[in-house]
Amino acid sequence: MKICKTISEVRNTIDLLRKRGKNVGFVPTMGALHEGHAALIRAARKECKVVVVSIFVNPMQFGPTEDFAKYPRPFEADCLLCEREGADVIFAPEGREMCAPGNDTCVVQERLTKVLCGKSRPDHFRGVLTIVLKLFNIIAPDTAYFGQKDAQQVLVIKRMVTDLNLPLKVATIPTSREPDGLAISSRNSYLSLEQRKDAVCLYGALCRARDMVTAGGRDAERIRAEMRRIIRSSRRVRLDYAEIVDAHTLDRIDRITGDVLVAVAVYIRTTRLIDNVCLTIDGKEILC
Ligand code: PAJ
Repeated sequence: MKICKTISEVRNTIDLLRKRGKNVGFVPTMGALHEGHAALIRAARKECKVVVVSIFVNPMQFGPTEDFAKYPRPFEADCLLCEREGADVIFAPEGREMCAPGNDTCVVQERLTKVLCGKSRPDHFRGVLTIVLKLFNIIAPDTAYFGQKDAQQVLVIKRMVTDLNLPLKVATIPTSREPDGLAISSRNSYLSLEQRKDAVCLYGALCRARDMVTAGGRDAERIRAEMRRIIRSSRRVRLDYAEIVDAHTLDRIDRITGDVLVAVAVYIRTTRLIDNVCLTIDGKEILC
């Protein structure tokens, strides 16, 4: 496994491999790698001859009061996980390499980024899209792998790939969960033992929503109210949103008539956690 710190180094490395006819799978991450990331790397390993993982804590996607400074950066352990999962190349640039002084161009998406997480994190998706486009231009992957855990991120990236005619496929990988259902996240490490127990209410609310849809529930507001009730019953958890939206447009809906994205976001003190399930009208889980 090769670790590249600069853009020219990673480009040269991948160009050589591509010349030998190898297809490239790419897993962009911010490090602090866990089983969720490992599942993405394994999916890439299965389908591609070359697997590239990027590790870059992207300052552009954090708000001014968010956790950029304290975001965990266990680089050695991350390298071990990549090695164990069979990655071929790690691209781990310094901040300056990705965002040189004077950097002034960014990718803005109009509609899909105005709802859900985009409402509470106004510049977040601009930061994500800009860095992901830069990474796509550097790595030039055949397929890029993203987690269902960040469903809105998958949708905005797919939209960018379509709108800007990028020559790659986007693959969505199911959410990896702890045994009690909590979606695995680098931010779970911020939680105290008590907070960790409270955090299961996200998955509890999603399961209840799924059961209501499976049982024929079609009134979105009734299901939203039930999710709010479940989340608010955990006293230390502050609700950001509990939403049901069209799975393709992210438009808020009144009645369920097709695929829906059921998504929740909460704060436990200063830790922000999100989770979602994407459902067919019969309550079957699908990927977005
Ligand atoms: P990060 O939070 O490190 O996540 C990297 C990838 O791992 C994302 O596609 C995310 O959806 C996926 N992932 C995280 N937890 C997961 C879980 N429990 N199950 C399945 N997949 C999971 O997402 C980002 O970084 C950044 O926004 C990035 C795309 C790298 C741009 O900076």
